[in-house]
Amino acid sequence: RQSLILDCDPGVDDAVALMLAFGAGEFELLAVTAVGGNVPVEKTARNARMLRQIAGREDVPVFAGADRPLRREPAGAGEFHGEEGVGDMEPFEPDAPCADGHAVDAIVDLVMARPEGSVAMAVVGPMTNLALALRKEPALAQRLGPVAVMGGARAEGGNITASAEFNIWADPEAAAEVLASGCRVVLFGLDATHQVRATDERIAALEATGTPRAGVAASMMRFSQRIEREIVGWDAPPVHDPCPVAWLLKPELFELAACHIRVETESELTRGHTAVEFRREVAGTLPHGWAVTADADGVFALIGEKCA
Ligand code: BDR
Ligand code: CA
Repeated sequence: RQSLILDCDPGVDDAVALMLAFGAGEFELLAVTAVGGNVPVEKTARNARMLRQIAGREDVPVFAGADRPLRREPAGAGEFHGEEGVGDMEPFEPDAPCADGHAVDAIVDLVMARPEGSVAMAVVGPMTNLALALRKEPALAQRLGPVAVMGGARAEGGNITASAEFNIWADPEAAAEVLASGCRVVLFGLDATHQVRATDERIAALEATGTPRAGVAASMMRFSQRIEREIVGWDAPPVHDPCPVAWLLKPELFELAACHIRVETESELTRGHTAVEFRREVAGTLPHGWAVTADADGVFALIGEKCA
């Protein structure tokens, strides 16, 4: 089984990623780590625990992590996720608390205690927790297995500014440090995630499944559908965060290109832009992966299967 740490800021699409991971027996889910992003970390950690309870996965520890980016002011994306971060869902105080200790220490301890390459990470919020863990223990970069990240914008343009995608924009210094650390990072940016759309048929199929996990996933997508129609004018919202988790389960659902990715941290105008270089003769080495295409039917089939 693939050992996995899921780092997230739920977040309506984070909630779908969590349901996918909670339902996938292929993973030994070592921990869910929460970070401030879409909403403050107190809420993302509570939401992760709420979602864990609904999924019946209290065996998985939830650790609260960084409450602010490395150098920037906390941003927030409440308009796309609801004030509490879980769309239309009524928040409640979960039965089980957060695990003792900070998410950054948990990441270091869990990964360093296991064989090289055996623990994968899926990061679907700002990369603050992983960047802090790498500062604390630089050897983590070599010890980690694949680091599958939702973040970045290239051909599709940005979603928070013309140039940048939210997760990278929210903490560009963290993203830059992680990408330069030697970690084997694959970015699932908007080029790929905008291909994965929650159409009415796809949401209805989840609603028809009738399980708690499928119900949560469908409710998050219905909320996004309403908001994206209002704010962006899109009929079917992109479902970003399940993509890196789906790739860890079924890599054939995505086409990746080898590349070297750097992040803009100086310019205010293009803050958080991902400069993706595919030319080996220019970059020297191509240590990263960039998701170019996604098989949306396959991703939704996988979500349906694991939420059943
Ligand atoms: C990313 O930003 C967040 O608002 C979503 O949860 C997702 O991780 C998409 O740009
Ligand atoms: Ca997210």
